[in-house]
Amino acid sequence: MLDRNRALYYAYPCVNSPSEIAGFNPRAADPAPHGAAGAILAGLFPPLTLQEDIMEAMESILSRRSIRKYTGDAVPEDVVEQVLKAAMSAPSAGNQQPWHFVVMRERAILDRIPGVHPHSLMIREAPVAVLVCADPTLETHKGYWVQDCAAATENMLIAVQALGYGAVWLGVYPREERVTGIRALLGIPEHVIPFALVPIGRPAEQKPASQRYTREKVHVGRWQ
Ligand SMILES: Cc1cc2nc3c(=O)[nH]c(=O)nc-3n(C[C@H](O)[C@H](O)[C@H](O)COP(=O)(O)O)c2cc1C
Repeated sequence: MLDRNRALYYAYPCVNSPSEIAGFNPRAADPAPHGAAGAILAGLFPPLTLQEDIMEAMESILSRRSIRKYTGDAVPEDVVEQVLKAAMSAPSAGNQQPWHFVVMRERAILDRIPGVHPHSLMIREAPVAVLVCADPTLETHKGYWVQDCAAATENMLIAVQALGYGAVWLGVYPREERVTGIRALLGIPEHVIPFALVPIGRPAEQKPASQRYTREKVHVGRWQ
């Protein structure tokens, strides 16, 4: 059966392969389709309107939940790459980008993480996990690396959701025993700080969007 990704590939010649679809923005694409079949498919999958793009972005943010159960399905390299692109698109103080990322797929390594992080058992079921690290020596604006790495981590979670996968933010920093344990496990240099772990997989649990909007926490103009 022709899936949506393959159909988009035929409909938009600017996409070189079905695996490029994850980062593909039909709104910005050349609509000239691949022949007659492409024309039909382009009709079935028209470019997104700006309004639809905005709705998809809001949907990913509002529906995101922590996913701690995963199917055995693999997470392809191109999905991880899209997630890392989202991470590195995050804002940072003075655009200092003080981050590094360790992509972990080796089962033996993933299985040892709960030994140094007590709330990470789900990582044993995840096919892949990304460790967000900070390198404070890259800072040009001292003291902001925590906020920069948090922005990158949140971007990852939203991208994972948008791509149809599930993830959870596992805090490492500032727990000293987790920082030193993960550093030793992965051979991370002393000056680099493991910040957060993000296991990623196909969701094996469904969670409703959480309604957290609280009018009382919004202060307009002044506090009272
Ligand atoms: C800084 C931070 C650290 C967290 N650490 C853990 C953790 O160690 N283990 C875990 O299972 N979840 C962890 N979480 C996920 C939170 O428990 C979760 O985001 C929160 O309960 C809200 O649920 P939701 O993500 O489904 O909306 C962490 C989240 C943040 C932002």
